[in-house]
Amino acid sequence: TNRVFSGIQPSGDLHLGNYLGAIRRFVPLQDTHDCIYCVVDMHAITVWQDPDDLRRATREVAAAYVAAGIDPKRAIIFNQSQVMQHAELAWIFNCVARIGWMNRMTQFKDKAGKNSENVSLGLLAYPSLMAADILLYKATHVPVGDDQKQHLELTRDIAAKFNNDYAASIAAQNVGQDDGSFFPITEPLIAGPATRIMSLRDGTKKMSKSDPSDQSRISLLDNADGIAKKIKKATTDPEPLPETVEGLAGRPEADNLVGIYAALSDQSKTQVIAEFGGKGWGTFKPALADLAVSVLGPMGEEMRRLVEDTTTIDAILRDGAERARALAEATMVDVRSIVGFIR
Ligand code: TYM
Repeated sequence: TNRVFSGIQPSGDLHLGNYLGAIRRFVPLQDTHDCIYCVVDMHAITVWQDPDDLRRATREVAAAYVAAGIDPKRAIIFNQSQVMQHAELAWIFNCVARIGWMNRMTQFKDKAGKNSENVSLGLLAYPSLMAADILLYKATHVPVGDDQKQHLELTRDIAAKFNNDYAASIAAQNVGQDDGSFFPITEPLIAGPATRIMSLRDGTKKMSKSDPSDQSRISLLDNADGIAKKIKKATTDPEPLPETVEGLAGRPEADNLVGIYAALSDQSKTQVIAEFGGKGWGTFKPALADLAVSVLGPMGEEMRRLVEDTTTIDAILRDGAERARALAEATMVDVRSIVGFIR
């Protein structure tokens, strides 16, 4: 089977990078794969979250999934903490993975900074929980932005080490695939013109929830006016757009805005340059602003409506969690016996 899993943290406002790098790409996968889209609230608390904010942000991610076009009847939408098997498998993976693997994660090093003795233990173990998210469902494909690449490589390492450490038991319990493995080696899906959306203020910095400048990112809850203003004020160099896509090299701000246009219009950067090459920012920015407003405006409105309708959103999460739990428990029945836990 082809199964897709991906997750988004409910910490801070969702932004254009989350939408183009992840959520927008989740939608068409529903037609070709079994899809599971998670709101990873247990990952969010690796950094302290105000409980009311966490509840609101959890509903906001779920609302974004639905507003973007994910059908909660076809795909599974749920929040991680409702399916305790995530924590259970993460513990086993904590005992498979090596501390050195965790210490090498660039996201951990960035988040921990110089103060790595005084961050939560959960922040270090974060990738174990992420591997558990994916492997609990034996997902084969994981659509994410470029910044998750290293975490997905670690997921593959954990799967391979588990398969190897327990090879004899997997065979004895007769729960392996034809090749003797239990967990699949997952493929990352990192593709398209928007795998790494950059800040609107600085083309060398990733657009992120934690940038102190609100002008650096477009929030999915920004209104039409705010979206257009942020695009028109975005930092650029003074040159017109290049005549060829190769001309974007060494021009990070131009490359970023062309990539955003391409992703929002389902085109390649080459196609966008074919239309706008040689034109100035006075032409391109208003066109991009109109496009962004036409896509994000209606979606943001639907999100704002859904977030208020907590009964509907909570029912979607509860229903999704029930379906996810059934799949997760089937995996854990095998995992417990592979490891040697008596039930
Ligand atoms: P998170 O919550 O930081 O981001 C959610 C998704 O948005 C992508 N993304 C971006 N894409 C392009 N440009 C950007 N500037 C940008 N910023 C964020 C991320 O790559 C991600 O796809 N560890 C994950 C959550 C997670 C997960 C998982 C993902 C937990 N378990 C299992 C996949 C599978 C994270 O922190 O994403």
